[in-house]
Amino acid sequence: MKFFLDTADIDEIRRASAWGILDGVTTNPSLVAKTGRRFDDVKAEILDLVKGPVSLEVTATDYDGMMTQARALAAEGEQVVVKIPLTQAGIQATATCTKEGIKTNVTLCFSANQALVAAKAGATYISPFVGRLDDIGNPGMEVVADILEVYKNFNFETQVLAASLRHPAHVLDAARLGAHVATMPIKVIEQLFKHPMTDIGLARFMADWQKVPE
Ligand code: G3P
Repeated sequence: MKFFLDTADIDEIRRASAWGILDGVTTNPSLVAKTGRRFDDVKAEILDLVKGPVSLEVTATDYDGMMTQARALAAEGEQVVVKIPLTQAGIQATATCTKEGIKTNVTLCFSANQALVAAKAGATYISPFVGRLDDIGNPGMEVVADILEVYKNFNFETQVLAASLRHPAHVLDAARLGAHVATMPIKVIEQLFKHPMTDIGLARFMADWQKVPE
């Protein structure tokens, strides 16, 4: 399973990169806004730091506007994956990107039928928003399972990128289902490392080590 960091914060990307387990980064307009910085500045720094896939989202909502932005973003680096919302214009843009060899991450996916449409357009990744489905009382992980089943039936190559993951149990569930990628806020990645028994065990080892004669 690949781990992507869901952020536009450079310090977080630096910190998580140092752990050696990060495969890529996903951003969205809200995450960029949270930094308080210009998109062009944030984008340049992220692409400088991250050589794995970096999802950068279009902000146009019409087909022509999406394509203009998609081509410009893709030209910024080999690692760029153009993030496109799951609308009719977005799917049309995804299909064109596929023909032009531009990698895509179709975002704001909330159903397996939407994911089917994205796969038919040749999306590189599909991003079902697990936490936001949970928020409205609709188990998000069931949608991930449905998508994986449907994709397997037809050998679609689109990778399932479990997004809007809010806690470690989401990550475990996505991994058990076989989702190709999990994108997470840094807090969730940090939680994956933690277990109280590890802390207790390490403290005991260190205390006992003091008793070993030199
Ligand atoms: O990658 C999509 C993700 O950023 C959405 O997460 O927590 O805003 O639903 P959230």
